Amino acid sequence: MEGITDWNGRVAVVTGGASGIGKGIVDAFREAGATVVVADRDQAALARLREEGYEAIETDVTDAGSVSRLAEAVVAAHGKVDLVVNNAGVGPKAPAAELTLDDWRWVIDVNLMGVIHGIHHFLPHLIANPDGAWIVNTASMARYFTPAGYTPYVASKAAVEGLSLTLAGELAAAGERVGVTVLHPGAVRTNIKDSLRNRPAGNAGALVDFDIAQKVLDDDLWIEPAQAGQIVLRAVRSGDPYAFTHPNMLDDVERNFALVREQMSKYA
Ligand SMILES: NC(=O)c1ccc[n+]([C@@H]2O[C@H](COP(=O)([O-])OP(=O)(O)OC[C@H]3O[C@@H](n4cnc5c(N)ncnc54)[C@H](O)[C@@H]3O)[C@@H](O)[C@H]2O)c1
Repeated sequence: MEGITDWNGRVAVVTGGASGIGKGIVDAFREAGATVVVADRDQAALARLREEGYEAIETDVTDAGSVSRLAEAVVAAHGKVDLVVNNAGVGPKAPAAELTLDDWRWVIDVNLMGVIHGIHHFLPHLIANPDGAWIVNTASMARYFTPAGYTPYVASKAAVEGLSLTLAGELAAAGERVGVTVLHPGAVRTNIKDSLRNRPAGNAGALVDFDIAQKVLDDDLWIEPAQAGQIVLRAVRSGDPYAFTHPNMLDDVERNFALVREQMSKYA
């Protein structure tokens, strides 16, 4: 689908917009002329953003009712929605053998059900938009390099990619003017290394925070959230189904598909 180039007068909503990549996306679209609503569960961060002139609505993406109220509030205030960025996410780790079912549920609830709640409650408003509209869903390059200790995370992100591509094809086939981009960030300097701050109290399991920046990835691989925001803006402007922050991580994707090719050839 043809992208949306002019963001003047457009209305965007970004979940997880109070920190990291979400904040980078918020600022990119604000600078491009859009009115942007920050939706996040972090009350203190939202209060700080309001003082700086941002529009912010407290939202818990794991709660369908909360996301429904967000959609209604945005449409009541602005009359329409042009872009929803389903970006809120958490990235803690633990070996699968140690995970509690609550661990699994929390990561899936934020990273996958959060995206599904955004699609479910915003899609009717996006389809009704006479000027066309867009959805961005944040996945992860981890979906391709499948790091040990991140089974719930990778499961959620692979699902986000799959649902994004399927939804894009379905909307296009139905002739709707709503595009979908799946964002695959690589290494972006954010607060994801402190994901457990977002876990409801009293719900401790095996998951721990892990600063992948210190342990695994080369320094020169990291980018800032503002750069990620510009990449998303560029992808939506050009109507791209994928947005990649790290084209230099192509090897991870090729390893993934080389395995699929090799295994499929065994069954040919
Ligand atoms: N930072 C990276 O290198 C990287 C890489 C790949 C993918 N991602 C993805 O990018 C997205 C943003 O993460 P980030 O790195 O900016 O982390 P971050 O921790 O800086 O920001 C995440 C934001 O989501 C919010 N949030 C968490 N749970 C929520 C909930 N239930 N309801 C509403 N808001 C909630 C947090 O308050 C925070 O503002 C996530 O989906 C993450 O999986 C990040």
